[in-house]
Amino acid sequence: MTARRLDGKAIALQIRAEITEQVGQFVAAGHAPPKLAAILVGDDPASQVYVRNKERACQKAGIESLLDRMPVDTTQEQLLGRIAELNADPSVSGILVQLPLPSKDQGGAGLDERAVLDAVDPGKDVDAFSPVNVGLLMQGRPRFLPCTPHGIIQLLHRCDIETSGKHVVVVGRSDIVGKPMAMMLAQKDGSCGPRTANATVTLAHSRTANLTEVCRSADILIAAVGRPEMIRGDMIREGAVVIDVGINRVGDRLVGDVAFEEAEAVASATTPVPGGVGPLTIAMLLHNTLMAAKWQAEA
Ligand SMILES: NC(=O)c1ccc[n+]([C@@H]2O[C@H](COP(=O)([O-])OP(=O)(O)OC[C@H]3O[C@@H](n4cnc5c(N)ncnc54)[C@H](OP(=O)(O)O)[C@@H]3O)[C@@H](O)[C@H]2O)c1
Repeated sequence: MTARRLDGKAIALQIRAEITEQVGQFVAAGHAPPKLAAILVGDDPASQVYVRNKERACQKAGIESLLDRMPVDTTQEQLLGRIAELNADPSVSGILVQLPLPSKDQGGAGLDERAVLDAVDPGKDVDAFSPVNVGLLMQGRPRFLPCTPHGIIQLLHRCDIETSGKHVVVVGRSDIVGKPMAMMLAQKDGSCGPRTANATVTLAHSRTANLTEVCRSADILIAAVGRPEMIRGDMIREGAVVIDVGINRVGDRLVGDVAFEEAEAVASATTPVPGGVGPLTIAMLLHNTLMAAKWQAEA
């Protein structure tokens, strides 16, 4: 069997085109364009690339962007002060703080990441990291959906992959990907995306016993681990759908958490790295920024 390749890049372009059109309609109705404010503390090269990509994507969609560069030794008080200003600025629709924040080894001031993320106004929290937004998601009445899991929901939906009644194994329990992914797929009423709920979900992690067997029981296997090619062909059930969230740099190559060629030989569908889940994350960030602007316009 050679698996169908799920083209996240093409689907992300389609979603971005839809958002661009909706932004145009929003502005034509007399509103100011949505605006995304990104805070980047320090000069980590990978973070600079991510922030630049987000800025470019905003521009293409007609969303304004504001990049707030703060020095590596920014204090907690200074950062919280800047977030408070952006919270209060009516021209700012969405706020994101680029992670990771610099560690003390990198010259950072020992910033408390949790307190920083908690300080973002939940109504502008386009990454959906605040406890309010996590709680609403847990209760099945989300305001913002976290971007990477939402991108995967969109990918499954737009590729006609049914989740209802399926056994989904999510490997990795991070707050950013694994935990919200599991919660979204387990929802009863499709509140987290059309036709993408009612799955029976297993959330696996580094202490999971018999990981190979657990993964082999999945109809849909989602890997968000951060270990290059950790999911091997013998961990995949014949005909399963495999979604690879991992982005790992190995030499000058980017590889996922799944051994792609081995997966392709047994799965019915797989996502490539790059060009799979990654582009969808940015598309869903644009979606959240537009949603934030719409809610603020209605308030
Ligand atoms: N495509 C995108 O847009 C996107 C977005 C975000 C992240 N990513 C990528 O996705 C990957 C995961 O990111 P993350 O932020 O979720 O990572 P993370 O916070 O480091 O979490 C990794 C998770 O994997 C689990 N894990 C580690 N080793 C394992 C093992 N041997 N067996 C089973 N589980 C294991 C950990 O378990 P414990 O909890 O037990 O430690 C943890 O829950 C990374 O490669 C990251 O770059 C991609």
